[in-house]
Amino acid sequence: MPIPAPDPQQLVLQAEDWVEYRTGFPTLVRQFLFRKVPPTGWWHTLGSSLLTVFIMQAVTGSLLAMSYDPSPNGAYESIRYITDQQTLGWLIRGMHKWGASMMVILLFLHMGRVFFYGAYKYPRELTWLTGSLIFLSTMAMGLTGYLLVWDERAYWASVVAVNINGTAPVLGPFISKFLLAGPVFGAQTISRFYALHMLLIPGLIGALIFIHLWLVVKLGVTPWPGRPVPGDEVTGD
Ligand code: HEM
Repeated sequence: MPIPAPDPQQLVLQAEDWVEYRTGFPTLVRQFLFRKVPPTGWWHTLGSSLLTVFIMQAVTGSLLAMSYDPSPNGAYESIRYITDQQTLGWLIRGMHKWGASMMVILLFLHMGRVFFYGAYKYPRELTWLTGSLIFLSTMAMGLTGYLLVWDERAYWASVVAVNINGTAPVLGPFISKFLLAGPVFGAQTISRFYALHMLLIPGLIGALIFIHLWLVVKLGVTPWPGRPVPGDEVTGD
């Protein structure tokens, strides 16, 4: 007797049940995708654009790290190798460089949108606070990334930035000493900047984005000021 061919739809449903029973993940995804939101517009797309750019930075940064040499003698040469010789290296590097500027521009636009909608007020104070920490961390990404090219411009711009940091009251000298990681700008400084740029700060931003988005989904997005929301559909639950 021929064995009947399995129904693909049934197989998918069975697989979903299997995962659902063990993790509850499909229900979470369904709740996330089909939650109620108030009328939104283009201004509400800036947060998702930021997320996209952040992911792009993580991917292109990881690709660059595969060929980058974080040492005073090797850094500039490895950058030249990536740009001039590696397959599509120029594209990956260009995407990472322009992506960094794009992220800062989008951050300002997103913050402006949130500010003019009054979306930072109760009950979204923590969404704003996590956003502010993301903003500061992104600035730190810019500072630590700039030095890694290790050409004259990068070197002296970073010397100036670290010196200016050192003049800030109370914490300034500590931050400056921490960034310098030694008596002069050298091998230890580039290693420290690299570790901060590659691991510590992106990890922190990733965790903060997770909390930020958790709060956005939990509290829902703020509608256009003054526009009534039918049935008070402001919550995202
Ligand atoms: C990588 C950085 C960021 C990502 C990926 C991100 C992502 C998002 C997303 C997807 C939303 C919902 C859709 C939208 O309103 O655009 C949102 C909302 C929000 N974001 Fe961000 N955001 C970031 C940075 C910031 C910053 C720097 C601030 C402020 C300092 C901020 C404050 C807020 C607030 C208060 C909301 C709620 C808006 C509302 O209720 O309408 N975010 N964010």
